[in-house]
Amino acid sequence: MQQEAIQEITQAPTLEALQQVKTKYVGKSGLVTKELGALGKLPPEERRARGAEINVVRQAIDAALQEREGILKRAALDEKLASEAIDVTLPGLPLPAGGLHPITRVYDDLIGIYQRMGYEVVEGPEVEGEHHNFEALNIPWYHPARDLQDTFWLEDGRLLRTHTSNMQIRYMVEHDPPLKMVSRGKVYRYEATDATHESMFHQLEGLVVGEGISMADLKGTIAEMARGLYGPTAQVRFQPSYYPFVEPGADFAVYWNNPRGESKWLELGGCGMVHPNVFRAVDDLREAAGRDRIYEGMTGFAFGLGPERIAMLKYKIPDIRYFYANDPRVIGQFRGELG
Ligand code: PHE
Repeated sequence: MQQEAIQEITQAPTLEALQQVKTKYVGKSGLVTKELGALGKLPPEERRARGAEINVVRQAIDAALQEREGILKRAALDEKLASEAIDVTLPGLPLPAGGLHPITRVYDDLIGIYQRMGYEVVEGPEVEGEHHNFEALNIPWYHPARDLQDTFWLEDGRLLRTHTSNMQIRYMVEHDPPLKMVSRGKVYRYEATDATHESMFHQLEGLVVGEGISMADLKGTIAEMARGLYGPTAQVRFQPSYYPFVEPGADFAVYWNNPRGESKWLELGGCGMVHPNVFRAVDDLREAAGRDRIYEGMTGFAFGLGPERIAMLKYKIPDIRYFYANDPRVIGQFRGELG
């Protein structure tokens, strides 16, 4: 029986088969177990010798079972490891990586420049009331400047803001001078689109208010921005211009060396000294909200510019509509570029 059992054990091909052999010989009603149970029927003088004999068999079978189990377990583990092996020399799966949109990158450049000058960065609503977008900025309903900024109207009388200048009003109602802030965001105009005009585009607004702020501070600030964008030799030019919410008002341009080695004046935006009527409108809103009238007699400057123009030149994008067409051939060129 011992020989038979050991042969069956060493030939058991799997752990399940080995378990069956184990049950057959040393299980509850296995062959060896039965022999042990039969000991009681033997005459006492035979019992001791017979018992010892069976125990030797049992130990031999147990030892064989243990050894075979070890071999089979190791084989199973080896097989598992082999089937799950990873070839670390295979090329990895490409993970598509995004990148920052060119407009975001230009914003980051601009905001970095203003943060270094201590400006607070804020954002504001794109759906705006007529008062904050026009009236409080010294643009009453009959003013011809409204024609230049026709926009999209909601049925409840609100509109999509035509510029970020609404944030001048909102910021001054909430904050006391002295203050320095820039505000970024989308603006909208009801406009025929072409290579340089879109019905949605972006602006960066700046506002500085305090006592004794002058046009010289405005010019110095714009010049600092120009140097931040185009290097220490960048120059700025101011031309008189008209915006109802500033007096005097100007358009500003930056002289820069473009990638083709030419030098050009780049018209960037509008600016000027905050109009007293704007301070008055802010004080009216503050008074209505239970706050002090504090802006009358203050001085300040404001400016607004469009990052699209900077991005078009910086990245040689010939048509403003490419920014928003979601064409991967355009946007894909900025993949993995984090500014
Ligand atoms: N809001 C003006 C525009 O959109 C730009 C501007 C901002 C001009 C601040 C002067 C001062 O055209």
